[in-house]
Amino acid sequence: MNFLDFDSFDGDQIKEILEMAKKEDANLLRGKGVALIFEKPSLRTRNSAEMATVALGGHPVYIQAAEVGIDVRESAEDIARTLIGYHSVIAARVFDHRVLQRMARSISDLGSSVPVINLLSDKAHPCQAVADLLTITDLFDSKFSRELLRIAYVGDSNNVALSLAQAALKIGASISIASPDGYDFDGQTKRSLIELGPITFYDDPIDAVTGSHVVYGDTWVSMGDEARAQEIRAAFEPRFKVDGAMMAKADSDAVYMHCLPAHRGEEVTNEVMERYAKVIFKQAANRMAAFKGVLSMTLSR
Ligand code: CP
Ligand code: NVA
Repeated sequence: MNFLDFDSFDGDQIKEILEMAKKEDANLLRGKGVALIFEKPSLRTRNSAEMATVALGGHPVYIQAAEVGIDVRESAEDIARTLIGYHSVIAARVFDHRVLQRMARSISDLGSSVPVINLLSDKAHPCQAVADLLTITDLFDSKFSRELLRIAYVGDSNNVALSLAQAALKIGASISIASPDGYDFDGQTKRSLIELGPITFYDDPIDAVTGSHVVYGDTWVSMGDEARAQEIRAAFEPRFKVDGAMMAKADSDAVYMHCLPAHRGEEVTNEVMERYAKVIFKQAANRMAAFKGVLSMTLSR
């Protein structure tokens, strides 16, 4: 089973990944390879995926996209169909989500069930959302039911926001999303999210964070958008910077979370980052458990 995004996953399957993330079968990948292809830089995703693979008995192979040349040296399909000759899992971080879909289709057309896992694309970052939910449920499940949990995402309606919103809604939480005009989800995406559960879209971050238990941030300028950085920053400054005053509008027990890397002084102040460092770096650490859960789930189907 592939793990490209949450489009085809239901709440029970997501809860199952969260449960699997908390267990560890040290022999699941014994003698097996996991190919990790990266078209973009990474700290957390590469390290957590490599170490999760090792913890499950497998061998990770890091592949820089520049080295294999996806659709330059050979096609994404030929790369995927070659790698399944050596590996039990193909995972990739790509600019264009369709590259993952093409890899997955070429593998299944060959009659193979080797899963393809998304390590971040322009559309989705599902491994991040699993770690986010592990962190959030660990913090709040003992306090109240998930139906009462309110998450507020402040920033670009991007890959991280989509995966977080889909996964949170599917496990029963509610979410508010605040993005500047032009950086919000398109109409079709908004409608598909509204069908999943209680979600509200705002252009004022204060409205989104008021009363929420989690305030969540990501970079304003995603990888691949660097050429437009000046224009993007102008759209977000200064209203979308999460500072102490904005956090004061959230619930008194609220936490700030960030997928990292963070840009202090842009999407969040240094003071907020440091105040919630314990949560943020637990969230980063949870990327490893999350990848174990994703490996276990994709290999079990
Ligand atoms: N959050 C995240 O995916 O971090 P990296 O880009 O460092 O992998
Ligand atoms: N939205 C960011 C996430 C980085 C982990 C990006 O795509 O660059």
